[in-house]
Amino acid sequence: MSASAPINTAVDLGGIALRNPVLTASGTFGYGTEFGPFLDLRRIGGFVAKSLTLEPRHGNLPARIVETPAGMLNAIGLENVGVDAFVREKLPALPDGVPVVASVFGSEPASYAEVCKRLTGVPRVAGLEINASCPHVKSGGIEFGQDPTLLADLVRATRSATNLPLLIKLSPNVTSIAEMARVCEDQGADGISLINTLQALEVDLATRRPALRNVLGGLSGPAIRPVALRMVWQASRAVAIPICGIGGIATAEDALKFLLCGASAVQVGTANYTNPMAAAEVADGIVAWCAANGVARVADLVGTLEVPE
Ligand SMILES: Cc1cc2nc3c(=O)[nH]c(=O)nc-3n(C[C@H](O)[C@H](O)[C@H](O)COP(=O)(O)O)c2cc1C
Repeated sequence: MSASAPINTAVDLGGIALRNPVLTASGTFGYGTEFGPFLDLRRIGGFVAKSLTLEPRHGNLPARIVETPAGMLNAIGLENVGVDAFVREKLPALPDGVPVVASVFGSEPASYAEVCKRLTGVPRVAGLEINASCPHVKSGGIEFGQDPTLLADLVRATRSATNLPLLIKLSPNVTSIAEMARVCEDQGADGISLINTLQALEVDLATRRPALRNVLGGLSGPAIRPVALRMVWQASRAVAIPICGIGGIATAEDALKFLLCGASAVQVGTANYTNPMAAAEVADGIVAWCAANGVARVADLVGTLEVPE
């Protein structure tokens, strides 16, 4: 490869064409416009919007976020404007040229499917990510991500509701991530995103109460990165559909490790809170690393982890 040859950063994530493999993670980047002053979205591969429900939701009562030594615990409770307001007000405000992946949530397969239908055919929506894994809402979410039969029902219902590329976002709060990944593939998903947050609890010793009003929350950030790497690796060995790796990614080096473990693309989440330019810096850093290491095509790195016999 000549020193000046451009690095080919394009990747295909289950039918979603990305100019580079770095997206922002659902719930950590608002509706995209909030980050306008800090980051030109055209520098990243794509943007995953906050999970959308049929009706608007206020989410949980505060406290909803607490810092932990290597990350954060949240129990936002899926506050969102609702799918119709997203399509009417939020999408048109986003700059052209960045694929938008809409995240979908519901209390049962039929309401997930209805949200999928409302997003299908909408200009700018490049794909859907089904949130089958939220650990801190009263119904829906994690139940689907933890039970193979319920997950199969959910994937089947959403698959039949849309012809858009369909990613299923899995929960790490399971015994076998490989089994859950296979369920998604068998029911026609185009890809898998993992991981969502790890169910966790923090305590306020002064009040002797849980730090979060919801008691339980989801742990994210650097603390969960090795767990996420492990799960991406296991899932990628179980299925042929592409995987989007998520969990504690803050640097290009973090992202590259996910690619080696089998992720075709990655999402940056909690890191956006400390550095709103994190996703773009990760994308640029991947290019710099490839140039320094003689890699002409980012996609060639996917799944190349060298595992001893
Ligand atoms: C404050 C907050 C809100 C989140 N909201 C959502 C959400 O609405 N839908 C979803 O699928 N994941 C949501 N997540 C999970 C992230 O998308 C991501 O899967 C998780 O945080 C792990 O990645 P990270 O360690 O890079 O943050 C949220 C995470 C945080 C920290």
